[in-house]
Amino acid sequence: MKVTVIGAGNVGATCANVLAHNEVGNEVILLDIKEGVAEGKALDMWETSPINLYDTRTVGVTNDYSRTANSDVVVITSGLPRKPGMSRDDLIATNANIVKSVTENVIAHSPDSKIIVVSNPLDVMTYCAYLTAKIDSKRVFGMAGILDTARYRSFLALELNVSPKDIQAVLMGGHGDTMVPLPRYTTVGGIPVTELIDSSKLDAIVQRTKTGGGEIVKLLGTSAWYAPGAAAAQMVEAIVRDQKRVFPVCAWLQGEYGLSDIYLGVPVILGKSGIERIIELQLNDQEKESLNTSAEAVRSVMKVLDDMSVVA
Ligand code: LAC
Repeated sequence: MKVTVIGAGNVGATCANVLAHNEVGNEVILLDIKEGVAEGKALDMWETSPINLYDTRTVGVTNDYSRTANSDVVVITSGLPRKPGMSRDDLIATNANIVKSVTENVIAHSPDSKIIVVSNPLDVMTYCAYLTAKIDSKRVFGMAGILDTARYRSFLALELNVSPKDIQAVLMGGHGDTMVPLPRYTTVGGIPVTELIDSSKLDAIVQRTKTGGGEIVKLLGTSAWYAPGAAAAQMVEAIVRDQKRVFPVCAWLQGEYGLSDIYLGVPVILGKSGIERIIELQLNDQEKESLNTSAEAVRSVMKVLDDMSVVA
């Protein structure tokens, strides 16, 4: 199995490193437009193979898409990250052009690949890749839910002083401040979280989750990479190993949750064909309202992309 990661910045390089370390695929191609950067990072990773004991080859290339040919999975991380004070949506004009041209190159060389978009604004860049790739939406989807859910679960683990391994949760909606963590679908070792934490503390954790990306941007002056890179790698692994994992993924909706023609975070089953099924939960009125609010926020940015006529 061959995996390509486009963009050797912090997120792309972290993703490639996790893939190699976990031996997800025989070969991981890292591609960047900056001369030598992908080659250097891929070589540095390969030099850890005798230490970390893996044999997945990491290969870096400068903009040479022929080397990515026939990839099974391609992760697109290209684009500018956020600076303090910016919302993810502020990146749309620059990143839409980048994601479009990257997707054209990806699909020309790997027409049968599954494409995972990581670039921001996430939901709309996934839509941009879908419009460009013109392939089944089951093969074009975005990484946000695993990251956002991981933040939520990690904050709960700190608050409850329990292992993050035992916290399971569902989080839906767009990858922005309107995202919808779902306490009713959050458990700790099978115990509903609401039995272990009072509602004001839970509300504060939900709020911290929604602005979790911004919290890192404020601290670092740029956006996060360890958790985003690891989250994207976990999606690749589910596909490469046909694991049928249940993850929140940014998926193209056609009537699910009463929403159509929109990319939005929903629980799915991820396996070798990409999105194998979208799971529809029975949301209550308040949850539905929050999901609709989030969908509206995503639609307004989709409209900006449509009006820019970047993608025909
Ligand atoms: C974040 C960026 C990657 O949430 O969107 O950290």
